[in-house]
Amino acid sequence: MNTFPIVPPKNPGVFRILHFSDIHTGLKDWKWRYLLDKRFFGRLNQFATRQRKLSLENIALLTEHYADMQVDAALCTGDLTSIGSQEEFQHAEEILAPLRQKAGENFLYVPGNHDAYIPQNHPALAEAFKNLNQGRCELTDLPQSVTIGPVEFILLNPARPCAIWLSTGALSADGWNKLDYILSLPARARVRVVATHFPLSNHTGHALSWRTKLENGEHLLEHGRKGAFQAILSGHVHLPFILPPDKEGFWQIGAGSLTLRDSFSLIDIDSATGAITPQIIKLNPL
Ligand SMILES: [Fe+2]
Ligand SMILES: [Fe+2]
Repeated sequence: MNTFPIVPPKNPGVFRILHFSDIHTGLKDWKWRYLLDKRFFGRLNQFATRQRKLSLENIALLTEHYADMQVDAALCTGDLTSIGSQEEFQHAEEILAPLRQKAGENFLYVPGNHDAYIPQNHPALAEAFKNLNQGRCELTDLPQSVTIGPVEFILLNPARPCAIWLSTGALSADGWNKLDYILSLPARARVRVVATHFPLSNHTGHALSWRTKLENGEHLLEHGRKGAFQAILSGHVHLPFILPPDKEGFWQIGAGSLTLRDSFSLIDIDSATGAITPQIIKLNPL
């Protein structure tokens, strides 16, 4: 039986973000044509190491305790699926629907590498992206600035199909140019955060390997060092972590995998001072 952890109440004037990631829903919709491409490895990976311990019920737990946690906005940083099929996105949208209902207009999603697994599934991703962001922007609009309360979210999409042995992310030249422009403007809200699947560091504070990193992530790191944003919220690394701004000048928060590591994060933003107070919450701590 699950016991939901006690979450500290918000202070007055605080805006609270529920940040979760990497739910990796998957359906047993095996098709022989999967043998022909990368989906074979996605399925194999899922059933060999994941399916048995995937705790999708954690999504219902967050929904049940949404009001108790005093959440103002919810953000999912990608890897909703295992191979990015239309069936998986439908499944993910269905199980997220009650949580989205609680969040209302204040629900945001950015894609992960598993959501962009193969080019053939791109229309399903584009459709899910639009639905999960309440139609406020198209996937092709990213990078995009979205303001909710005292927070300007910069939504990034470095997720794209890549070689079988890689799970890297990359932005196009146009994507970097648009991001540079957005980050050159004054922040539209008290605090500016980057929301992207790919973190700049892992849970140990080290850069990700060449097999899993955001290509040219040093460029984004430089923006952060110069104060262009105050936090980066990410997924991809399934162990949750918080790296304070001591080293790079901005918070780095990885929510971990909600369904594989039973973790998520709550990020409190003081609307007056802009102070950021993140915490990792573990379900089923025993
Ligand atoms: Fe993942
Ligand atoms: Fe990932």
